[in-house]
Amino acid sequence: MMKMLITGGAGFIGSHLADLLVSKNYDMVVVDNLSLGTIKNINHLANHKKFRFIKEDLLRLDPLKNIFRKNKFDTVFHLAANSDIQNSAGNPEIDLENTFLATWNLLECCRLFCVNKFVFASSSAVYGGTTRKLSEASGPLSPVSYYGAGKLASEGFICAYSSMNDIQAWIVRFPNVVGERATHGVIHDFIKKLKSNPKQLTILGDGRQKKPYLYVKDLVEAVFFVYQTAQERLNYYNVGAEDQTTVTRIAKIVCEEMQLSHVKLNYTGGKTGWRGDVPHFKYSLNKINSLGWKARYSSTEAVRLAVRSILSK
Ligand SMILES: NC(=O)c1ccc[n+]([C@@H]2O[C@H](COP(=O)([O-])OP(=O)(O)OC[C@H]3O[C@@H](n4cnc5c(N)ncnc54)[C@H](O)[C@@H]3O)[C@@H](O)[C@H]2O)c1
Repeated sequence: MMKMLITGGAGFIGSHLADLLVSKNYDMVVVDNLSLGTIKNINHLANHKKFRFIKEDLLRLDPLKNIFRKNKFDTVFHLAANSDIQNSAGNPEIDLENTFLATWNLLECCRLFCVNKFVFASSSAVYGGTTRKLSEASGPLSPVSYYGAGKLASEGFICAYSSMNDIQAWIVRFPNVVGERATHGVIHDFIKKLKSNPKQLTILGDGRQKKPYLYVKDLVEAVFFVYQTAQERLNYYNVGAEDQTTVTRIAKIVCEEMQLSHVKLNYTGGKTGWRGDVPHFKYSLNKINSLGWKARYSSTEAVRLAVRSILSK
């Protein structure tokens, strides 16, 4: 049976991917330094005989090489990164290291230990603030956050390692992903604020920011589907829902689901919520749709589902 490595597998999305791969009976190793993730996300897998967790930092190349030496991985699913874009605004080194150098270290290990399949959790952030519909063929790409730059630099190195070492790669560009186990993001933020003050909610920006949101289980199925189905040497795919949802609509859904009425919505103003934010984007999904994948839930449905699942925990 094939052996998979998931980096960042104790995080929000990585732990859902681990659930999916366990359900498909793969041998699996999760590597995570628990800087942003938590062991609670994977505790339920701990006794599974095909599952192993290793606490390690991807920035430590020698221990990482040892992990590769001891395990013959067929495929690396690389999800570890700094996932908190706002947090690196004051410290770009966070993304240089955890978003980019972590990728480079893994690619080095793939080169040295002949692992020739690499799946990468990329992001809509690589496209930057353009108002064009975002297609995989779009360019030049101009990220506006250090995080987006770290993802784009990673994509560049994956492309070069792929070409130099015959590594097959799947670069999947995620939109906003929502669901249980998320630790930050707009839904999480609104629920937290409303729990502390159910009478009013402060919204960053003008509330008209409009983006696609994808339910986490839809996303991990899409990642696996692309990995199994797309068979070029380099496979680039946007993944997302067809529609978009505004931040104000999300606030209203959260209020409805928390059964709060007459909540005063206060806006901090401006088009973007924070520096580095991309307030509007729309994906072209023609490529992934032609491959045979469509999201089960629309953005609005995904948001409602995520709010419900977070509140029920
Ligand atoms: N959540 C989203 O909306 C979204 C959108 C686009 C792309 N992504 C990408 O998807 C991936 C997963 O994101 P997430 O939302 O699950 O974030 P997350 O923070 O929950 O998961 C990331 C995991 O990586 C681990 N990690 C970070 N740096 C590490 C290092 N140096 N060594 C070892 N482990 C390290 C963290 O501890 C964490 O468990 C990330 O690559 C992220 O950039 C997420």
